[in-house]
Amino acid sequence: MKPDVVRTVQEIRKHVQKQKLAGKSVALVPTMGGLHEGHLSLIKKAQEVADYVVVSIFVNPKQFNNPDDLNSYPSDEATDLKNIEKLGADVVFIPSVKEMYPDAFATDVKVSAGIDILCDAHRPGHFGGVATVVTKLFLQVGADFACFGEKDFQQLFIIKRLVADLNIPIKIVPAPTVREEDGLAMSSRNARLSKSDRQIAPQLQAAMQAVKTNLHKGISIEQACKHAWNSLEKDDHFKVEYLEVRCGEKMVLMDKPSEGCRLFAAAWLGGVRLIDNIEI
Ligand code: PAJ
Repeated sequence: MKPDVVRTVQEIRKHVQKQKLAGKSVALVPTMGGLHEGHLSLIKKAQEVADYVVVSIFVNPKQFNNPDDLNSYPSDEATDLKNIEKLGADVVFIPSVKEMYPDAFATDVKVSAGIDILCDAHRPGHFGGVATVVTKLFLQVGADFACFGEKDFQQLFIIKRLVADLNIPIKIVPAPTVREEDGLAMSSRNARLSKSDRQIAPQLQAAMQAVKTNLHKGISIEQACKHAWNSLEKDDHFKVEYLEVRCGEKMVLMDKPSEGCRLFAAAWLGGVRLIDNIEI
């Protein structure tokens, strides 16, 4: 069945309130569109945890610190809606920029944990934009659950902090990273890779798996990461931004691997920034 499409806060509130009055639980899946199997896995997860599923599509200008990245962000509403319809989500919320940020808009939400490191060190202001839009979506929709991918682990960490700190009555449900068969983590930005770079891109995940293997063999984090960094950059295809092992719970840098720690990586490949993380 075709999902309802709504574009205003008033309409999405009406839809959700009706479900809640009927005793149904509601899950939200926030996205920026360009939907792929990773997003669709979140919709499936949402259908597992709740009776009624809201998918939001909003390319949030506040979280882009590069205008070219914003302008070239893949957006194809008709295809996204077809994919959502296949899964049978109930309603799609597609607000305009004006609906989200009217002219007088003057509020920013800033989380002070999980910042200054990893992506935030390289994309200053990005997580402020994410925190602001996610807070708005949570308050607009009033869902009981919200599903987020571990692919963006730092984002997930910041959103969990935000929800706890602001006592927002919503449960955050994480979901594992969905990958292409060759190991590349799915991302809307992968569509921007050239044909040859698409062939090279899985080397990032392969290098990360090599770090994991080396750590399990007893090689130090420093040595294992240095080796992977050099091997990725040796042919001048990748430019590595970071390759770090951090505790998955507090995000502190580890000097020795221990349970629950994760390897985080970001690298540029032909003008496309790839990010990934795996449990060690
Ligand atoms: P977007 O990049 O569209 O991602 C939407 C959701 O899909 C996020 O929770 C993200 O972690 C998840 N996701 C992306 N790729 C995935 C993959 N390969 N496997 C599993 N999940 C994946 O993240 C955002 O949008 C925005 O920052 C948003 C939270 C919507 C706020 O604007």
